[in-house]
Amino acid sequence: MSQHVALVTGGIGGLGTEICRHLARSGKRVVAADLGTRSERVAAFLDETSEHSGAIVFEPLDVSDHAGCTASLAGIVERHGPISILVNAAGITRDTSLRKMSERQWSDVLTVNLDGVFNTCRALIDGMTERGFGRIVNISSVNGQTGQFGQTNYSAAKAGMHGFTMALAREVARKGVTVNSVSPGYCETALVMAVPEPVREQIISDIPVGRLGKPSEIARVVDFLCAEDSAFITGANIPVNGGYFMDF
Ligand code: CAA
Repeated sequence: MSQHVALVTGGIGGLGTEICRHLARSGKRVVAADLGTRSERVAAFLDETSEHSGAIVFEPLDVSDHAGCTASLAGIVERHGPISILVNAAGITRDTSLRKMSERQWSDVLTVNLDGVFNTCRALIDGMTERGFGRIVNISSVNGQTGQFGQTNYSAAKAGMHGFTMALAREVARKGVTVNSVSPGYCETALVMAVPEPVREQIISDIPVGRLGKPSEIARVVDFLCAEDSAFITGANIPVNGGYFMDF
């Protein structure tokens, strides 16, 4: 089979950057898609991934706008070829207790974190099923499994991703397309560093391995799920949380 093209939304973020690197290392051509407005971060990203400069490119994409996302993805496919691997890693937080949460804080999080998954999958799913191969990995969160104080918006969106993942997995299972979610725990990312320090320290003390996760430890699992021979894993949620939440 020819070289796969992978699209990673949130591709220049903490987890996204490492996911791009891992996919490039395992032989994919990678499109890191993210808001084009963060030009300094885009430049830093291209520098950080320069060892894969032929294999990783940046494309601007706003996942939250349905029509714009559909049009941008059509352009990306035209420039880089059919996308057979989609990693939905775009996500934001607007943490505050429900009693203080504005409608905007609710809708911003739901629009990026959950509608964004619909928008990208809706635009790319037909191409994957028509070609008989696809890998979709949705980056959810342990907080979609446990809930978190101050995250009714984020926890709802991340739990919603699990339902979406399982439903779509059923729809495309016979077409060579797998759909899974990965639920990171607390990792060394800007999102986690934005949590007030006393709260963060308390959370770290509750992680059995005794530390935050590394983005590479999430990326490793994503890359595994994207492999051609990971074809029998679908509709699954893989927790990667240092033992913070254990379930079976
Ligand atoms: N646990 C228990 N009680 C808490 C609390 C907590 N985490 N946070 C606040 N409280 C208490 C407050 O002390 C306050 O008590 P009093 O009424 O007695 O004064 C009460 O609850 C109400 O607090 P507020 O309504 O003022 O809460 P707030 O709107 O200021 O929000 C918060 C507090 C900053 C959101 C805080 O709860 C918090 O940091 N929570 C954790 C958020 C978090 O973990 N985010 C993860 C971001 S990273 C990520 O999401 C990546 C991933 O996937 C893991």
